[in-house]
Amino acid sequence: MDNQVMPREQLGVCAEGNLHSVYLMFNANDGVESQLRPCLANVAQYVYELSDQYADSAFNGFVAIGANYWDSLYPSARPAQLKPFPAMNADNRDAPALEYDLFVHIRCDRFDILHLVANEVCQMLEGLVELVDEERGFRFMDNRDLTGFVDGTENPKGRNRQEVALVGSEDEAFKAGSYIHVQKYAHNLSKWHRLPQKKQEDIIGRTKQDNIEYASADKPLTSHIKRVNLKDEQGNSMEILRQSMPYGSVKEQGLMFISNCGNSVNFEKMLESMVQGDGHGHHDHLLHFTQALTGSSFFAPSLDFMEKAAD
Ligand code: HEM
Repeated sequence: MDNQVMPREQLGVCAEGNLHSVYLMFNANDGVESQLRPCLANVAQYVYELSDQYADSAFNGFVAIGANYWDSLYPSARPAQLKPFPAMNADNRDAPALEYDLFVHIRCDRFDILHLVANEVCQMLEGLVELVDEERGFRFMDNRDLTGFVDGTENPKGRNRQEVALVGSEDEAFKAGSYIHVQKYAHNLSKWHRLPQKKQEDIIGRTKQDNIEYASADKPLTSHIKRVNLKDEQGNSMEILRQSMPYGSVKEQGLMFISNCGNSVNFEKMLESMVQGDGHGHHDHLLHFTQALTGSSFFAPSLDFMEKAAD
């Protein structure tokens, strides 16, 4: 009976988009695991409770554990598909790996709240971890990437978000958790803006202003949506839930790409199709205008898993 109860997911995994986000990447100090386990469970529970308290501003977030750190933190069990970031490259297209032990992802429609909570979270983890990277994301125009194209249109909707992003009964101990892949992409916007609009649209596979998908026959094999629209051997669509947002400053800016999924295969296959292409010389031409600076693999367990593992 007990195992039919759905564990509580961390609410930020499937939440709808927000105006602002903060990304905190930490490495753990040596030998602190027994203190860190309850502390992380507290952070996740705190973030969960704040979603109620700041419901008007749509606060949400999640805590995720790095693939290379998982076994140190939770040695007794590992999510079936958790593995390091699938680094790859071809010609001058590079998807490097840069792993972190912990990722705290918080989002809200009020930036002041996020700022307060980010400080609070760091205080809760003080002495146990080192903050190694921090970025702040923002909504650009009507949900556009900094290239000017609407991003997120074909994301799963409604209950389908949970179906795509969360582990199901196939891995009972990790049910309601999610495989998280993060890549910080820095755009070369001056190069992009020199490209005529029609060429930009051919690279994405959608129109820019009105965000209309190209007819199937018109989609270049090198367009982004052609490269990431994949089917598995049974002919089912391979889906991920993207929680990406633009980030940065005038000096360096781009997309904080975040994939949440109930498996780790879909993201990897899509990235392969973008970087290495289809075996007939067609890779994703978006990659001529943006460069992945990082690549990290995490698992965001259910709240119940973190609570139980804290004892
Ligand atoms: C779709 C931008 C990286 C997976 C899109 C769309 C845009 C976009 C504008 C079309 C609108 C939409 O459906 O959301 C970008 C940018 C990226 C990036 C600027 C990096 C700089 C990636 C990566 C992946 C990915 C790394 C996966 C490995 C997808 C998927 C879709 C999509 C699955 C939906 C395709 C469809 O079903 O039509 N992206 N993307 N994207 N992207 Fe990306």
